[in-house]
Amino acid sequence: MEERMVSAEAQHEEENLENQLRPQLLNQYIGQDKVKNNLKVFIEAAKIRNEALDHVLLYGPPGLGKTTLATIIAHEMGVQIKTTSGPAIERPGDLAAILTALEPGDVLFIDEIHRLNRVVEEVLYPAMEDFCLDIVIGKGPTARSVRLDLPPFTLVGATTRAGLLSSPLRDRFGVLSRLDYYTNEDLKKIVTRTAEIYEVELEDEASVELARRSRGTPRIANRLLRRVRDFAQVQGNSYIDYKLAIDALDRLQVDKLGLDHIDHKLLKGIIEKFRGGPVGLDTIAATIGEESHTLEDVYEPYLLQIGFLQRTPRGRMVTYKVYEHFQMEVPE
Ligand code: ADE
Repeated sequence: MEERMVSAEAQHEEENLENQLRPQLLNQYIGQDKVKNNLKVFIEAAKIRNEALDHVLLYGPPGLGKTTLATIIAHEMGVQIKTTSGPAIERPGDLAAILTALEPGDVLFIDEIHRLNRVVEEVLYPAMEDFCLDIVIGKGPTARSVRLDLPPFTLVGATTRAGLLSSPLRDRFGVLSRLDYYTNEDLKKIVTRTAEIYEVELEDEASVELARRSRGTPRIANRLLRRVRDFAQVQGNSYIDYKLAIDALDRLQVDKLGLDHIDHKLLKGIIEKFRGGPVGLDTIAATIGEESHTLEDVYEPYLLQIGFLQRTPRGRMVTYKVYEHFQMEVPE
């Protein structure tokens, strides 16, 4: 799969750039008001009781700030955060090593928690519920189980696929928070804040345009800002005005709604080859040279979200909005 300007997944080496931008406190975090206001209460209550915060599951599309929220939770609680991911924890021993190194109250952040394997997951249940570890030492007839106490801790799990989580795991989170796509207004505030951190001047209309083309996703907004800043700087400019932003975004092939050439190919393919659909997922995937699950996980969600694609029992269909977007005549 090629690297896209508008991919919501973090790109190669992008993490350091993002770390530099992460807000540290809840009141610096823009948007997601429901999630934020609830967390504020739970954090405050846990602090009053002098307890570790209950386990938190953050779920929703990539690029919306799950890692950022995990770091904020730790900061607000005044504890350390240890970060790992589902696929990185291969064996129960890996998890035991992480858990036994925690200090009381610490946050353990497990990204992509839906990718934990079953055996590891089962070690996690008593750890989450009773703060203890049941480990088997020895082999064969002399094997025995010992119980190890753990310090109280907060597990913050993040997933883009909450539906893939087993119910015993999901049930052990006391707080379930779903992150949603951001409004253009919030994205505008985010790029404005980022421009300040980067010490570049950003015209108001330029920030509106960046927000509009960021697919509801802060990660994309900040990435677009970095690329537009490149265009400004090679022109010896530290001021990003509307015209410069539009020219740069056009050269990056990101259109007015944040669609790129792959979205265009997909949508126009359905119109030109299949009269707008319905057409099966596998067939569309073949026409753009991608796997069906990549199409479903990566390309489709935003197009469904903005009402450009519809899922029907007989396959995918483009909506009238696509014809309007491409200034094509809407068929009967
Ligand atoms: N940078 C990325 N996401 C952010 C958010 N929600 N608030 C502030 N800055 C951000």
